[in-house]
Amino acid sequence: MKYFFYLSLILSVISCNHYKMDYSKLIDNLSAQLNVLIESTHDPVKVPRSWNEENGYKMINKGDWCSGFPAGSYWYMYDLTGDERWKNVAIDNTEKLDGIQNLRTTHDLGFMVYCSYGNAYRHTQIDAYKDIIIQASESLISRFDSTVGCIKSWDHGKWQFPVIIDNMMNLEMLFRASEITGDSKYKELAITHANTTLKNHFREDMSSYHVVSYDTITGNPEVKQTHQGYADESAWARGQSWGLYGYTLCYRFAKDPKYLETAKKIADFIIPNLPADKIPYWDYNAPNIPDEERDASAGALIASAFYELGAYVDNSEKYFSIADEIVNSLSSEKYLAKIGSNGGFLLMHSVGHKPGNSEINVPLNYADYYYLEALNRQKQLKNR
Ligand code: GLY
Repeated sequence: MKYFFYLSLILSVISCNHYKMDYSKLIDNLSAQLNVLIESTHDPVKVPRSWNEENGYKMINKGDWCSGFPAGSYWYMYDLTGDERWKNVAIDNTEKLDGIQNLRTTHDLGFMVYCSYGNAYRHTQIDAYKDIIIQASESLISRFDSTVGCIKSWDHGKWQFPVIIDNMMNLEMLFRASEITGDSKYKELAITHANTTLKNHFREDMSSYHVVSYDTITGNPEVKQTHQGYADESAWARGQSWGLYGYTLCYRFAKDPKYLETAKKIADFIIPNLPADKIPYWDYNAPNIPDEERDASAGALIASAFYELGAYVDNSEKYFSIADEIVNSLSSEKYLAKIGSNGGFLLMHSVGHKPGNSEINVPLNYADYYYLEALNRQKQLKNR
């Protein structure tokens, strides 16, 4: 027994050193690959969202919900490397989004503005960036309805007042806006939104619906459905990740134990449903598992959220170890693209909207963003 103990100790020291060598190579490879993306998609207005062999790049305007992710990824490359060049690339890609803070037709402002200008402000403390975050928060809360107790997600579609689980992610910007301004109104609305979502979006097993639409007269849920998942009663993988990440960040700001309990319960739904490499299939109830596509974006989100959640609990390793496994999987050749392939995006194998027959088994700029965020969070925890 004693010999096994010493053998495993020696092996873990060897693999730790090995990991350190691989780590700096990994960061070099990520830099080289993102340079391919930057050189291939340079545009004063448009932003790369995805790519496929047949059609090339999917370039989007700044009003698209994914417009802030490339800038955010470059800020995270600056965090990972300390290289000023990444800071300059990040600034260019952030500032080209100016104007999105005034949009009142979308709930996605948290993604768009906080991933770009939020990271920019974290690094630079420039007042102009702060003002954009505040203005975007004003635009976002203009979509709040006090009868429903939520921020409206979409203006399109068949619903009266649709609220999607993704919207939990946009609350981070509101919590920060209250910290920055000292005005609690943003935080109060974020908390109301989180509480209403907690009441109506979750099932017994703590999996969540994608869309809950509310009756605006009574404020009660009208229908509970999916849009991007396999079925109304299924567990769309990225939706579960949005919820996990969302309640974890609510706990960071509001320190309400019920948010921590919610994040832990969502984690307890996710963990046993993960396959061996810990990257989820695009829907946990997809009918043909294991012959279904993986969603690397959902995996990257779980890793990033688990690095945060693990820091709030006594049994941290429960979450840190799975986050490490996810990061290792995503950093393997199974998911991480070879330099020069995949259009310059980092990760292969994400799914945007399978029922809409769109973005299936492709790179997505938000998969890369949350993967880089997970790497940064892992780096910060390295001495644990
Ligand atoms: N927010 C849209 C998505 O997760 O695809």
